[in-house]
Amino acid sequence: MSYCRLLTRTSRPCISSSFLSSRIQRPSILLRTMTTAQEGKGTKTFFTLNTGDKIPGVGLGTWQSKPDEVRVAVRDALLAGYRHIDTALAYGNEAEVGQGIIDSGVPRSEIWITTKLDNPWHKRVEEGIASSLKDLQTDYVDLYLMHWPSSSVPEDLMKHYDDWTFIDTWREMQKLVGTGKVRNIGVSNFVISNLEKLLKAESTTIVPAVNQIELHPNMPSPKTIAFCKEKGIHVTAYSCLGSTDSPLAGDKTLGKIAEAHGKTPQQVLLQWGLQRGTSVIPKSVTKSRIEANFQLDGWELTPEEVETLSSIKDRFKVCGDSWLPVRVFFNEEGDGGDVPSH
Ligand SMILES: NC(=O)c1ccc[n+]([C@@H]2O[C@H](COP(=O)([O-])OP(=O)(O)OC[C@H]3O[C@@H](n4cnc5c(N)ncnc54)[C@H](OP(=O)(O)O)[C@@H]3O)[C@@H](O)[C@H]2O)c1
Repeated sequence: MSYCRLLTRTSRPCISSSFLSSRIQRPSILLRTMTTAQEGKGTKTFFTLNTGDKIPGVGLGTWQSKPDEVRVAVRDALLAGYRHIDTALAYGNEAEVGQGIIDSGVPRSEIWITTKLDNPWHKRVEEGIASSLKDLQTDYVDLYLMHWPSSSVPEDLMKHYDDWTFIDTWREMQKLVGTGKVRNIGVSNFVISNLEKLLKAESTTIVPAVNQIELHPNMPSPKTIAFCKEKGIHVTAYSCLGSTDSPLAGDKTLGKIAEAHGKTPQQVLLQWGLQRGTSVIPKSVTKSRIEANFQLDGWELTPEEVETLSSIKDRFKVCGDSWLPVRVFFNEEGDGGDVPSH
């Protein structure tokens, strides 16, 4: 089945049945109830979101990709077969990402674009999406995420608005649905307790379609994945290779499994992510790596290998929360502020 056909456009916000039954008194915009589902393997993996839209399992990440490099990287990725690009207003490269998409010649309708609302824009959601759409040179994004559950005062990024929480931000993001500017809305860096707060809030009428979080064998977060699954929220794994200068690449357990398959450690990490039911968005600006990271077909890990990688004991976290005005990680499953970065 072609990517084009899989990127169906029947999307509508959806509220899960368990959520709905407890919130039945609310004015609801429920059109149908769906749980997330996975189909296909390797680069042909798609996940059906709670809205009915299908997100491609493998995307290109673009954090820290410099504007001059990212245009070519995005073009190369699309020409190699990727159909999912992950960016953010905060990355400062949306314009070049948009240009790379145009340069590739791949029709917009075949590409899944995710971008994110930056923290200083939480009170200006409409302006935030307008800025992203303008830079990306597109009329809509497939997925719009609240980048962090933390708003910042634009003039002082370490200051949080006293009169605003992520629940207010989500209320405003919900208003975008139906405008044609976003196909799906979701969150990022949400731990279980913050998701519970969001789902319980009176103003919440839409269950996030996606929660994008840091996931790799040194930060596997099984409880968050299980919670999201139960609520019908798809999980995307960021820093899925362990990010820049990743110590994971030299991990012995990973190395042995990679050797057994005749694959690179990075390919094994991506397959691990997909086989755990998460989409993966490896970042690279190196053409050979972009192509290698998309060679995931015709092989897979055994369930035992997936488990072995999930059980690696060392912990590290790429993205902490000390740079934010409020804490967002509460050590619910070893993801607190005391986890070392690498
Ligand atoms: N929502 C959030 O808060 C959040 C936070 C972090 C990341 N993200 C998203 O997730 C994406 C991925 O995470 P990430 O950028 O932290 O890191 P990552 O994808 O885990 O790792 C990227 C690093 O791995 C290198 N690399 C890529 N493929 C390789 C290969 N086959 N062999 C050896 N090295 C390889 C890249 O180098 P080169 O580029 O030099 O090739 C880069 O240094 C981001 O780009 C972004 O889109 C989201």
